Amino acid sequence: MLTAHVWRASSTVKAMSDTILRVEHLKKHYQLSGTILGRLFSRGRAVVEAVDDVSFELKRGEVLGLVGESGCGKTTLGRTILRLTDPTEGTVIFDGEDITHLREKELRPYRRKMQIVFQDPHASLNPAMTVGKAVGHPLHIHDLVENEEEAKEEVLRVLREVGLEPAEEIYDRYPADLSGGQKQRVVIARAIILRPSLIVADEAVAMLDMSVRAKILELLMELKGKYGLTYLFITHDLATAKFVCHRIAIMYLGRIVEMGLGKEIYAEPWHPYTKALLRAIPVPDPSKRRTKEVLRGEVPDAIAPPQGCRFHPRCPEAFAACGWEPRDLLDYFERQVTESDISRLLGPLDAMSISGSSLLIPVKGGNGERIDRAVRSLLNQSGPISDAVQDIDVDQNSVRVTFREPLEPRDLEVQNRLVACHLFDPQVHPGSEGSSSSP
Ligand SMILES: Nc1ncnc2c1ncn2[C@@H]1O[C@H](COP(=O)(O)OP(=O)(O)OP(=O)(O)O)[C@@H](O)[C@H]1O
Ligand code: SF4
Ligand SMILES: [Mg+2]
Repeated sequence: MLTAHVWRASSTVKAMSDTILRVEHLKKHYQLSGTILGRLFSRGRAVVEAVDDVSFELKRGEVLGLVGESGCGKTTLGRTILRLTDPTEGTVIFDGEDITHLREKELRPYRRKMQIVFQDPHASLNPAMTVGKAVGHPLHIHDLVENEEEAKEEVLRVLREVGLEPAEEIYDRYPADLSGGQKQRVVIARAIILRPSLIVADEAVAMLDMSVRAKILELLMELKGKYGLTYLFITHDLATAKFVCHRIAIMYLGRIVEMGLGKEIYAEPWHPYTKALLRAIPVPDPSKRRTKEVLRGEVPDAIAPPQGCRFHPRCPEAFAACGWEPRDLLDYFERQVTESDISRLLGPLDAMSISGSSLLIPVKGGNGERIDRAVRSLLNQSGPISDAVQDIDVDQNSVRVTFREPLEPRDLEVQNRLVACHLFDPQVHPGSEGSSSSP
């Protein structure tokens, strides 16, 4: 039986000493006021909700995969956790210490313990710095060595550790002399030389050739075993995450929508977005026949994310409560109104306007009743959009279609898994309580 509880960040805190990172209700919103984009939005104020109320914790030695399409906020979340960018709201607790508001000087000891490996090793390395200088640089910054010889000894040891041999030769080379895989090994060497406890690996293998990817992943896992490293493993690729992650967090437009043990999520994804991502993985075995299915549409703009459930315009399982709003009806008209009679009757779509939760369709020459009938007939074929309409009113100026208040999915805890979808919320979807399998 699936029983849902509302997920609270603090409910996951068991005062366990093996929790290395705890993130509570973290938000990172970018204000675009003053920019061209900002001016396009109302009163010059546009906000990108890149990370919006994210909570999770990481156990020491764990690999948590953070997965989602491009623009979902993965990098922003990684950077905010490491305090490379300041959070808008929320808390980051690293090694039992609240680091959310520490100043740069106070952060220094923590910086040593938290490292990031980016996707593009080429861009991560200064072309004018030899490998030896680049990898040894953090030792000097953190005053961990007395002199150059000591630094060199440590650098050579780490180069060997990441498989860059002969280390003495590589030490004097420049990034341009190295292959992509070797460069990423240098970046990893530079990250581990400080003996960190947490590494954010941000698409760390995405730019490498297939043949090199597996080797770098193996290296990352080998280092984890040796040093008890913890990884936040960011990837848009669920297939790669399956290879290395204990737990998986699926991110969509700034929010974590499903999180749980990798093996359970791969065996039975619950959130419709996770299901769609998994269906999008090509199946290598031709006998299994399933072909890769493309996820419908694109990730919407994070400046004005869809209301209610942010996934609703793309969700194949969406129903009335999922957050349908006037712009969905406009999109629907755009797709459906092909008949010239109806099109003439409704008039140009850009003459329609949105006021709060209503779409206003202008009425001319007393044709309000006809427009009302046409809208109702179109809505009848629109599935969940129609179910979300609260009222349709006609007056001499417009036909007003008003939607019910959008409802954001709560973070629910269902059998040790977090899932943020109305289908699992007994208060919204009565069928979800007491069902013996996932919806
Ligand atoms: N400095 C910034 N200023 C304004 N908006 C930003 C900034 N950095 C990121 N964003 C926006 O925040 C959202 C999340 O971006 P982010 O790079 O975190 O996504 P991502 O999941 O890492 O994507 P990708 O898979 O392409 O790397 C996007 O809409 C992006 O345009
Ligand atoms: S709440 Fe669930 S069913 Fe509704 S749109 Fe979102 S993911 Fe789909
Ligand atoms: Mg990114």
